[in-house]
Amino acid sequence: MSRSRARRVALLLAVPILIGLAACAAPQTTFEPASDTTESIDGVYRFIFWLAGVVFVVILGVVLAFSIIFRERPGREAKQFHGNTRLEIVWTLIPVLIVVAIAVPTFKVIVDTTGDPPEGSLIIEATGQQWWFEFEYPEFGFTTANEMHVPVGRSISVNLFSNDVIHSFWAPQLFGKVDMVPGHGNNLFFTPNTARAEPYLGQCVEFCGTSHANMRFRVFVDTQEDFDVWVAAQQAEAATDAAVAAGAEVFATSACIGCHTIQGVSAGVIGPNLSHIGARSTIAAGIMDNNEANLRRWISDPDEAKPGAKMPAFEALLSEQQIGDLAAYLLSLK
Ligand code: CUA
Repeated sequence: MSRSRARRVALLLAVPILIGLAACAAPQTTFEPASDTTESIDGVYRFIFWLAGVVFVVILGVVLAFSIIFRERPGREAKQFHGNTRLEIVWTLIPVLIVVAIAVPTFKVIVDTTGDPPEGSLIIEATGQQWWFEFEYPEFGFTTANEMHVPVGRSISVNLFSNDVIHSFWAPQLFGKVDMVPGHGNNLFFTPNTARAEPYLGQCVEFCGTSHANMRFRVFVDTQEDFDVWVAAQQAEAATDAAVAAGAEVFATSACIGCHTIQGVSAGVIGPNLSHIGARSTIAAGIMDNNEANLRRWISDPDEAKPGAKMPAFEALLSEQQIGDLAAYLLSLK
């Protein structure tokens, strides 16, 4: 094999190998479903995959067998013929049956996973914004952002809205992709079946502007007990701590209150609700771990971390000391 040919073969092999590796390593996989909805979608996918595999093997096998059996040999001439009604009916009917076999389970899953959510579902109002997600729990009377908690085994009905442009909402292990459209409500529902400490990852999957790629969210599937604890914590007013009084003062007297809600302190609705931000694992819609260094970085210059972010750079408005106090205060809001 010449060197250039070897390189071409290596390149051709690299593509499927890389795709395969990416699929194995991806935390946002559709191949490990964790809800009734994604399990039924995965079931259809696998059925079609194996059916297509059988068709592939049979067709190639027949082509191979016929080209050997009917090849030209001494004393036997290979020639074309046409016009065999019985054969043509058979090779039309077989694909029709295959398409029907695919259509029946496909339509069943579409009917099962769309339409009205089951009665007694936990309702969550999810709103896409440039570039973060708001989650409101009307049943419990609180609002949070970017991290959604749900109890295992209960049907979850998510109403989807947008405040600006079209976003799309997808956590591949839990539910299929559904758009968030300004002026038009959509809905999706699913029943998570595997509680775990690690969150299920999701993100915006419709190009929505500069920081589309920085618009992520997390879904925590909790046991009922853990979920109740989380709800109670969200409903409670954030404890004020003497050690962070300086930061609380900065928050209450600066521009923060114009955009953000902290229960009992302010009622802004332009940015994410920060009532219990200290209890979230990430900030800035899932792009940075929630710790003091990242909070300082974010408050100082949001645009540096998330290009196009609407929050102004507070390094021009507050001292380094004030930004540090603010970060400590926010972290204390568990
Ligand atoms: Cu929101 Cu892409």
